[in-house]
Amino acid sequence: MKTLKFAVLPGDGIGPEVMEVALDVLKSAGEKFSFTLDYENADIGGIAIDNHGTAFPDSTKQVCEASEAILFGSVGGPKWESLPPKEQPERAALLPIRKTFSLYANVRPGLLYPELTDASPLKKERIPNGIDIVCIRELTGGIYFGQPKSTSTLENGEEQAIDTMVYKTSEIERISKVAIDTAKARGNRVCSVDKANVLETSVLWRKVVTAYFAKHAPEIELSHMYVDNAAMQLARDPNQFDVLFTENMFGDILSDEMGVICGSLGMLASASLGAQKNSLGFPFGLYEPSGGTAPDIAGQGIANPCAQILSVAMMLRYSFGQLEAATAIEIAVEKAVTSGNRTGDIAFGLDPIGTKAMGEAVLSYL
Ligand code: IPM
Ligand code: MN
Repeated sequence: MKTLKFAVLPGDGIGPEVMEVALDVLKSAGEKFSFTLDYENADIGGIAIDNHGTAFPDSTKQVCEASEAILFGSVGGPKWESLPPKEQPERAALLPIRKTFSLYANVRPGLLYPELTDASPLKKERIPNGIDIVCIRELTGGIYFGQPKSTSTLENGEEQAIDTMVYKTSEIERISKVAIDTAKARGNRVCSVDKANVLETSVLWRKVVTAYFAKHAPEIELSHMYVDNAAMQLARDPNQFDVLFTENMFGDILSDEMGVICGSLGMLASASLGAQKNSLGFPFGLYEPSGGTAPDIAGQGIANPCAQILSVAMMLRYSFGQLEAATAIEIAVEKAVTSGNRTGDIAFGLDPIGTKAMGEAVLSYL
């Protein structure tokens, strides 16, 4: 019997409630697919600020280092919004954890089941069979991390802020490989998104991506698109894309757009993978819902746990090689949300039958 060792960082808001349900599903999958769980909880985000005085404490880092993967909830909330921006949970927890573990590849599936097309703001005619695309977002470079990054006061008294967008060939190449591997497991098409008509980093991005694909995967159909056009195309005909591949900030924005056209952030999982392999030889990764802490509904037991459950499935697939269990969970979620009369409401992140009941519905199909 295999034991899966991972860190559990539920975080803030709805994080803990959806995490509890996701862990129940994982336990049950373990009974069915013969693995046991060995996980350790640790604080991250606002709760870590409250308990340890910092959003990403060393103790939490150590728990992660001793694990094969990180299962993450979400961080942030009104309670910490008055802190200086640099100390707020999102910036002080999420960005450092990505950087600490070099989690440079963010994989965000944009999936809308055909039965739930009503949940999308797009007209049904545009997505008769739902949506099935994936965004590969570079996660540890670009304007999020580039130096200099500062705010200063000029001689004339006005303030000036600087962010710097930087990319190196090696950073673009390693994420290109992830886009290629992802496309090979799907429809063999990659659309690389940049702003090469304006930005130097994008000119380099396009050049490196083109050369890398030509050398390593000439069989993949590669296209390029400017980000403004990509935002428009995503709303017009999302299924023209198979793998949407882009740098950090463009990926942040496009993946949220993907969330809304797919009906609900409450349904979308994500994986952040790095260079590092775990002791099993699989990529070390962090798995989290694409949505946030939803403070408006936290504590009410109505948050949709599906994104967290699907993040568990991604963890099983990528960091533990448990493909059968991962697929079984994904199928169970699909059946649970497309059965009965819940289709309309689940889309908005609120499951009218409740977080726990939704978990039970998933379990009943596992
Ligand atoms: C995301 C989030 C984060 C990001 C924020 C909270 C720092 O929006 O994971 O998409 O911008 O990367
Ligand atoms: Mn985002």
